[in-house]
Amino acid sequence: MIMANQLLAGKRGIIFGALDEQSIAWKVAERAHAEGGRFLLTNAPVAMRFGKINELAEQCNTTVIPADATSIDDLENLVKSAQEQLGGPLDFVLHSIGMSLNVRKGKEYTDINHEWMQKTFDISAISFHKLMQTLYKQDAMNDWGSILALTYIAAQRVFPDYSEMAESKALLESFARSFGYHFGIQKHVRVNTISQSPTMTTAGSGVKGFQEFFNYADKMSPLGNASAEDCAAYCVSMFSDLTRSVTMQNLYHDGGFSSMGMSPAILGM
Ligand SMILES: NC(=O)c1ccc[n+]([C@@H]2O[C@H](COP(=O)([O-])OP(=O)(O)OC[C@H]3O[C@@H](n4cnc5c(N)ncnc54)[C@H](O)[C@@H]3O)[C@@H](O)[C@H]2O)c1
Repeated sequence: MIMANQLLAGKRGIIFGALDEQSIAWKVAERAHAEGGRFLLTNAPVAMRFGKINELAEQCNTTVIPADATSIDDLENLVKSAQEQLGGPLDFVLHSIGMSLNVRKGKEYTDINHEWMQKTFDISAISFHKLMQTLYKQDAMNDWGSILALTYIAAQRVFPDYSEMAESKALLESFARSFGYHFGIQKHVRVNTISQSPTMTTAGSGVKGFQEFFNYADKMSPLGNASAEDCAAYCVSMFSDLTRSVTMQNLYHDGGFSSMGMSPAILGM
């Protein structure tokens, strides 16, 4: 049972990336709905085939507009339709998209297929720039709006099995800073990334040895791994008016993992 405070009352948004109940975006949608926000859901056309997202839409009293986040045409249509359906410009947007072709196809980092790598960057990082550029050109954000993308600490440190997703996340975080400048100047819109703990989702568990790694991070973090539900609460706080001056930041939501050097829990002391 979520304790809601109507933090998003009167706000309009778009949430990308809810695939199933495990998805971080799914939890964000539930929480944003409980907090009084109104939003459209979107995902890649292939993800529609699972049909799950329609259940979420019903639950949140909204609709789904399919969009491939690498297609400018799809994004333009989505952003335009969202403003029409919701009745005005947007206050919050969540980019919760990640996929690596080389990881999915089991290619080692030292034997990467570079065409797939480019596709990975397009889906996992450049889509964020495409989305922000579309919002910017359509002047689709309200003053003091908030744009978020989800990321992972492999952008800063080496996690060998994360492969080319590390570079995707580094690029994603850089886009948040660079576009955060332009959006800040244009309309006081803030742009941030949230760097989340390992989380049991379709994208997460695609990484080799994920369960072992999940347990390792859980032990290493003084608070334990941050849950998807807690991540959703953090996203909602970043969409709310309580965080109006936070922008161009990479925000760790990881139970303290990023500040740890060594933990006795790992050494069994
Ligand atoms: N799970 C973790 O351990 C973890 C940790 C840190 C950050 N993240 C990040 O959180 C975000 C959400 O991932 P998740 O863990 O909820 O997994 P998920 O698999 O539920 O979500 C990934 C989403 O990306 C969507 N997607 C893929 N290609 C797309 C395209 N071309 N256009 C539009 N959407 C597309 C998928 O359909 C899916 O809904 C990702 O950016 C991921 O990298 C995940």
